[in-house]
Amino acid sequence: MRRPRPIVIVANRLPVHRVGDKLVENPGGLVTALVPTLKARGGAWVGWSGNSRAAGRAFSFEGFRIQPVHISEAEVEGFYNQLSNRTLWPLYHDAIRTPEFDHSWWRPYVVVNHRYAKAAAAVAPRNGLVWVHDYHLQLVPSMLRMMRPDVAIGFFLHVPFPPEELFAWLPWREQILEGLLGADVVGFQTQASARNFSRAAREFTRAEGTDSELEFDRRKIRVGSYPISIDFDWFANAAATPEALREASLLRRRIGAGRKILLSVDRLDYTKGIDLRLLAFEAMLKSKRTKVTDCVFIQIASPSREPVHEYGQMRVRIEQLVGRINGEFSEPGRVAVHYFRRGFTREQLASYYRAADVMVVTPLRDGMNLVAKEFVATRSDYTGVLVLSEFAGAARELRQALIVNPRNIEGMAQAFEAALAMPKREARRRMSILRTIVRRHDVFEWADTFLEALAG
Ligand code: ADP
Ligand code: G6P
Repeated sequence: MRRPRPIVIVANRLPVHRVGDKLVENPGGLVTALVPTLKARGGAWVGWSGNSRAAGRAFSFEGFRIQPVHISEAEVEGFYNQLSNRTLWPLYHDAIRTPEFDHSWWRPYVVVNHRYAKAAAAVAPRNGLVWVHDYHLQLVPSMLRMMRPDVAIGFFLHVPFPPEELFAWLPWREQILEGLLGADVVGFQTQASARNFSRAAREFTRAEGTDSELEFDRRKIRVGSYPISIDFDWFANAAATPEALREASLLRRRIGAGRKILLSVDRLDYTKGIDLRLLAFEAMLKSKRTKVTDCVFIQIASPSREPVHEYGQMRVRIEQLVGRINGEFSEPGRVAVHYFRRGFTREQLASYYRAADVMVVTPLRDGMNLVAKEFVATRSDYTGVLVLSEFAGAARELRQALIVNPRNIEGMAQAFEAALAMPKREARRRMSILRTIVRRHDVFEWADTFLEALAG
């Protein structure tokens, strides 16, 4: 059999970082999805090491090339902290925080995108496949096409693409759209995002066509939804090892016999709705229908994008709420909310998922949300209930979850109660369907489907 064609991945971050003289894979969906694909096919990964001081040289990892892109400290500010995370991130998430549009941030975005495109052009084999990822790099497809018209270019947006009325706010809307239209295949997490993009492209550029196929500059561009997923088997196996099961039962013992666990795991980001779900938990305790002797809330939140002001604000808000709820409802040996502001290993997360009775995933807007799928994968015992926001991409697929509107605090509190009280048979029925869906559509299927579209 012929070896599949090598690929070049272009993403903001590299898939590995150095710890002493060892290379360690970075956690996250993109890395687990694409590192095995790169190992099998060969190719390269172009990205930023996260270190602005050292330029970093290319090296080989597990049979493919790691090609660092250097970004200076001043560029990190304009390109990453500002334009990517104060303009695009909030705008693409329904403007949950007011996006800021500062003309001095655009230049570094263009310069850094150009650098990624150049690096990709230098390593892509003749007629090769190049797959560009996410909102940081939306100009790369058209820049790369100018440099290397021979390669096939795919683009995948991990976050939502906003409705046309919101996207219209962007002073650089034409440039961003034309940047993306440089690709042959543009992929999104949901049909709604794909449609939003096609409509914006027809409205603000010379592109013509349908929601699934556009024509621009006498080229055809395929537009579609390719919902990302997880390595189902890894999470299923990790949660079933004797150590993981021991950890899970130790955690349950420490929390207190007879108390059910509601669990949330997120990056500490204002899109995740952490504050609103804490308010819902507070409302549930206030109602006195459920007491702190019956349940506990565990919130694991990993620090994220801390130099960006809105993230610091959200941290303060969450920490005040945790303090307020614990001050009011905790009892000796019975803390109401356990809050961990730190990253956990994937193995640790697997034990927490396995220990939980109710998994609470309630973002205000989320491209997909992999945590919901990871939880489902760990529940090979078919217990546990998923409470899921209707505004997460995952809600399109995981319809057997208890679907909630995260802005409806009372409704969310009722969903927590319903989840805690759900009869075992009902929970089993729902979990069985959820597991079938995630098992069938795992991350490897996602990567293969996108790459087939690109190669075809
Ligand atoms: P986002 O990409 O916006 O952060 P996702 O839920 O899609 O949201 O993906 C988050 C990934 O990061 C998941 O794979 C999850 O396991 C991981 N993650 C989230 N919080 C933590 C944490 N506190 N420690 C370790 N990993 C985490
Ligand atoms: C989201 C984005 C990714 C990003 C990740 C972590 O998942 O879609 O592109 O890598 O968040 O954020 P960070 O800013 O730390 O890379």
